Amino acid sequence: MSHVVVTTEDHITTIRLDRPDKKNALTIAMYEQLAAALAAAAADPAVRAVVLTGTSDCFSAGNDIGDFAKGGLSTAPLDFLRALATFDKPVIAAVAGVAIGVGTTLLLHCDVVIAGPTARFKTPFVALGLVPEAASSLLLPRLVGERRAAQLLLLGEQIDAPTALAWGLVNEIADDPLAAAHAKAKSLASLAPSALRATKALIRRATREAVLETMSVEGATFASQLRSPEAMEAFQAFMARRPADFSRF
Ligand code: COA
Repeated sequence: MSHVVVTTEDHITTIRLDRPDKKNALTIAMYEQLAAALAAAAADPAVRAVVLTGTSDCFSAGNDIGDFAKGGLSTAPLDFLRALATFDKPVIAAVAGVAIGVGTTLLLHCDVVIAGPTARFKTPFVALGLVPEAASSLLLPRLVGERRAAQLLLLGEQIDAPTALAWGLVNEIADDPLAAAHAKAKSLASLAPSALRATKALIRRATREAVLETMSVEGATFASQLRSPEAMEAFQAFMARRPADFSRF
């Protein structure tokens, strides 16, 4: 059963994360399906915008921690993130409920982010014995400033939708973020398509290479942290529903 649902209608591809029993935590198979959906949308000249969303009360609880605990490395997460970072048509994210870890960092590669009133954002990499990914160590400080990036990336604090709006992490708060995202996508789909793609490329030109290079550097550190005793303690603690104990490290 697929946990990524893809539909295309009126020039808009909607990609929906659909694993509600696990808070839309992303598995290797889901990353592969997400990358395939982006490749299909890129290749289809009829598609002019993409909407990325989760379920009505949850965007994504981030990478599947069970997959992390297996310690094996797959290229699927990085392949998807590279595909999103280099995707040449506009991507609008609709976020309801939690957006944790990659659920937040992937938003840095979307062009417009609409949050529901209950949206919450958190990047608890350090609490999991890990480091940032998705070039968030580069893009978050640029977007929200270094002090606020420290609150997110070092302290792992959670922020609510109004704070995310004030910090510039999201464009707007809407009662129905998916409907608002579709309205934006419809506007974009009515615009001159090659000018739209060229404008997106120009907006990203200055950071494109740095983003890809940062993803690789982060990926190497992430891979070694993933196998660390600190991370193992954090994953076991999550699965046992107890707080992690880093006192022996
Ligand atoms: N990976 C794997 N499973 C996850 C998950 C994740 N990232 N996030 C949630 N789940 C699972 C839970 O284990 C639980 O499974 P179970 O019902 O089989 O026990 C189910 O999703 C529901 O989660 P639960 O914690 O009971 O729901 P909640 O509403 O109390 O809390 C969250 C939701 C998202 C706040 C909480 O699950 C959480 O903090 N998850 C971890 C987020 C995280 O650290 N992600 C990695 C970032 S790098």
